[in-house]
Amino acid sequence: MGKEGPGPRLGNEKRLVTAIVLAAGKGSRMETGVRKQYLELEGRPLICHALEAFEKSPVDRVILVSGAGEEEFCRREIVERYGFKKVEAVVPGGRERYHSVYEGLKAAEGSADVLIHDGARPCITREIIQAAMDGAAAYGACAAGMPVKDTIKMVDDQGNADHTPDRSHMWLVQTPQAFSYELIKKAYDRLFEHPSAQEGITDDAMVVETMTRHKVRLFKGSYENIKVTTPEDLEIAGIFLRKMEKTVDI
Ligand code: CTP
Ligand code: MG
Repeated sequence: MGKEGPGPRLGNEKRLVTAIVLAAGKGSRMETGVRKQYLELEGRPLICHALEAFEKSPVDRVILVSGAGEEEFCRREIVERYGFKKVEAVVPGGRERYHSVYEGLKAAEGSADVLIHDGARPCITREIIQAAMDGAAAYGACAAGMPVKDTIKMVDDQGNADHTPDRSHMWLVQTPQAFSYELIKKAYDRLFEHPSAQEGITDDAMVVETMTRHKVRLFKGSYENIKVTTPEDLEIAGIFLRKMEKTVDI
């Protein structure tokens, strides 16, 4: 490990692990009046599903990043109402996803590792959370993903196929993405010191890739760990959640 490595790992020493769950987006591609994180999914607001997975996981604490001005609503109607004991703080997010992550990171000070998760991915499992924790402890930086199944084409400005990248090297990237706190905080501090680097940032791995030399290891999440982005995703997530519930009950 270089200077930006995750630091010494001493035997079985317990590492404080924090999950940052993001719910500060506008949900504009969903095209519904209610923001997608609060839409009902299997009888509860969508955001509850990710929070419950972390509640039942080995992470020590959760920071929920809500829309600015929605903190009190989230505390009362989500955290208290559904009894999420691991949620230690609800903090307001910002304009872009990376602003929201930065607010979550500042609130997660004192953590050894952090898992950053899109609240819009309700089908996250305990196994994926565990894999992210293991990946952070072993590599300092990791992200869930899956190999792409479709052929992906790069398209020019006129809408013509320009070229077709080798599919065997392409993965769909998901969350959680997990990092040593020191590394991810440093990467984000640098991102905010260099606003020109912020253009086109869509995930946390990209911040580490562009602002540090540290490698981000990909691990297999699941094809069911979808992000609810457009209306049909809500139906698909419902199918996966019903299946997950059945498996747990057996
Ligand atoms: N997110 C956030 N703060 C933002 C933007 C996004 O916390 N400023 C969160 C979303 O709430 C979501 C996750 O990041 O859980 C992934 O973002 P995305 O799916 O793009 O959600 P939205 O930005 O809400 O949707 P859209 O892009 O369609 O407006
Ligand atoms: Mg968005």
